Amino acid sequence: MSHQIIDLFTGWPSPKLLPASRLLEASQRVLSDPDVAASALQYGPDPGCAALREAIAEWINDFYSAPWTMPSRICISGGASQSLACILQVYTDPTYTKNIFMIAPTYHLACKVFEDNGFAGRLKAVPEDEQGIDIDYLENFLLKGAVTGSCSSKTYLKTLEPSKKFYKYVIYTVPTFSNPSGKTMTAHRRRQLVRLARRHDALVIADDIYDQLQWPQERLRPHVLPRLVDIDHELDGGPARATADGFGNAISNGSFSKILAPGCRTGWVEATEKFIDGLAKCGSTRSGGSASQLTATVIADLLHRGDLTEHINHCLIPALERRYRLMMDAIQRYLEPLGAGVKGMPPSLNQTSGAVCDGGGYFVWIELPYPITSREFAIRARDQAHVLVAEGPLFEVNGDERSMKCDREVRICFTWEDETLLTEGIQRLGNVISDMLGEN
Ligand SMILES: Cc1ncc(COP(=O)(O)O)c(C=O)c1O
Repeated sequence: MSHQIIDLFTGWPSPKLLPASRLLEASQRVLSDPDVAASALQYGPDPGCAALREAIAEWINDFYSAPWTMPSRICISGGASQSLACILQVYTDPTYTKNIFMIAPTYHLACKVFEDNGFAGRLKAVPEDEQGIDIDYLENFLLKGAVTGSCSSKTYLKTLEPSKKFYKYVIYTVPTFSNPSGKTMTAHRRRQLVRLARRHDALVIADDIYDQLQWPQERLRPHVLPRLVDIDHELDGGPARATADGFGNAISNGSFSKILAPGCRTGWVEATEKFIDGLAKCGSTRSGGSASQLTATVIADLLHRGDLTEHINHCLIPALERRYRLMMDAIQRYLEPLGAGVKGMPPSLNQTSGAVCDGGGYFVWIELPYPITSREFAIRARDQAHVLVAEGPLFEVNGDERSMKCDREVRICFTWEDETLLTEGIQRLGNVISDMLGEN
């Protein structure tokens, strides 16, 4: 067997998919226009680069058919992780906010952001079924007044200014092509989740960062599922009518990391104007304006010219779809006969999802055959087959003893490794499974 390492662990875009020349041309345009360059190179306004907020509003409106998406509902960020931290800084207080609920398996690196904001020991896993988050499970938990660890609602650690509020709970989700499970939440479940969030004063933070990466493209429109923020905007008259304070109960956390380049470290938040106003007043933003002003100006140029959409539709999606199909064919050929396979159905096969795409995102979640455990398998795959995979327990919710166990699953990524090695990677994993089954 070749000793070349095949990396199916790293969840990044392949270097071959990074549009360096488009970014170079856009940067040249931005920096050679003295007026544009002057504002691109200065501290920006608190809600972020105006040109990018406008461009995002138009683009999002077109993609989701969401005409309410205005620049005033958008705040530019330094990417989804940075904005998660800012949202928690402004809208939670560890003495008042009781718990963070995370759909399990979860995007593991978000746990640390919650812990850094005072919620260690109060992260709770919520399982998902074929439709998405298990609403009954979550509501039962909330009705019992979920919490462990200290939390009194009398004194705040932070100052509650008029422009902000503290939510009692946070629910963190990746509703479309989740990392790591690849699952997509149905429209019905999304509506249920918004209603539940309103009943319990919870803020739903949705990392909507894989939404644009769905295939096949020709069948997609006009069937893109509404974001939770769109549902919150429309349902029962929207936040102004349906809630007492009008801040809203769902926000969309967007990022250019997966659709342009992670190094840009730029994203956006969409929420009610009231919420965005409070978020833009976050201390680290007030000190110098929103993140990534220069990159934001460059991305605004790409969006205005249609270059980003062109890159997504004509480079990224075809390449990712090709990679995905190679991976799925190999799984069918080399893993399924051994009892391993993709866990969770592709959205188009899930009759209730309302989605029409076959696949999307960056990841496939594989269930291993009994009695193979993911930890042992990941080690054997690395040492014996030189294939790197992400073992299931990585994606359990930190500190929640009752967290859903992921001992039998592994996450594999089809976007990073060279396309020519994807099939061989899966074939090698099949050999490892075969050997491990033979030893039992
Ligand atoms: C669900 C999810 N959220 C956030 C991120 C990080 O996004 P950003 O680079 O915008 O911080 C990732 C990256 O893998 C992710 O999968």
